[in-house]
Amino acid sequence: AEPLKVALAGLGTVGGGVIRLLDANRALIERRAGRPIEIVAVSARDRNKDRGVDITRFQWVDDMTALAEIEGVDAVVELIGGSDGPALTLARKTLGAGKAFITANKAMIAHHGLSLAQVADAQDIPLKFEAAVAGGIPVIKGIREGAAANEITRVYGILNGTCNYILTTMEKDGRDFTEVLGEAQALGYAESDPSFDIDGVDAAHKLSILASLSFGSALTFDGVATTGIRNVIAADISEAQALGFRVRLVGLAEEGEAGLFQRVHPCLVPMSHPLAHVTGSLNAVVAEGNFVGRLFFQGAGAGDGPTASAVVADLIDVARNEYGPAFAMPVESLAHPERADSGER
Ligand code: HSE
Repeated sequence: AEPLKVALAGLGTVGGGVIRLLDANRALIERRAGRPIEIVAVSARDRNKDRGVDITRFQWVDDMTALAEIEGVDAVVELIGGSDGPALTLARKTLGAGKAFITANKAMIAHHGLSLAQVADAQDIPLKFEAAVAGGIPVIKGIREGAAANEITRVYGILNGTCNYILTTMEKDGRDFTEVLGEAQALGYAESDPSFDIDGVDAAHKLSILASLSFGSALTFDGVATTGIRNVIAADISEAQALGFRVRLVGLAEEGEAGLFQRVHPCLVPMSHPLAHVTGSLNAVVAEGNFVGRLFFQGAGAGDGPTASAVVADLIDVARNEYGPAFAMPVESLAHPERADSGER
């Protein structure tokens, strides 16, 4: 069968992971996808950086946004990041050219997901972002497909690996916040601007995406009341522990009579709750459905392998021609953003 031809923008931690994964599991992926998945062109900020993967076999393109226009490319994978700028230009150009667009960019989906979905859905082409939320955990598929028959009333979880790594390392050895942040950065978990992690912005991006999918409401990132972990000190953690709690940065969205309620903040989680046992850079998501009950998803929320796993799973869906509207229902039928929390609570 004809291969799915892919152009890849961004060759950082995750981009390198995607190339390695496609190489390592090539035969298996071809069987699952029904055809080969082939990277044909790549682009990144720096062509000559040593990434430990051979990129000389791919066509190199200097202008990342030009990947959308390469003849014969079926799908563009965007791993550049940033809510606007080249990532958004590339997204618009790719969808404009009628090609599939796969991204790990939670900031861009949180801010522009609906306008992009409008373009994708109108042409019936895939816009996929499994890797944007909770890294390797198939939580988008889990909610969008697995729980599709349910009314979901609440979705919450640990959505930032860097913060969870920091909090749980502080918990273990009482070490200093900034020292541990440096480690999370060295491990490749942190955003290029780590204030997005520690101030809860990254978790808020992901939460707004989960809320929209879960409740069929329009995405409203501005409606997330957000507090990060900057002011959490070692004493908070040890005192919480003495009382039988652990401190976790939790994102929670609920839909009730009063509308959509979305917030991200450090929480005291009782030891009896599974979220208290999510450690290191792991993420976890709980979704409550009216027929399925409580679902608990856990896994690696960051890092090259897990995030690449989610990106390639999306590529396999595209190769099989298995997809639907980006937000599980047509954008026009999503409930209105006016119902969103103003963020003041
Ligand atoms: N900086 C993010 C995190 C990466 O720490 O969870 C994955 O989105």
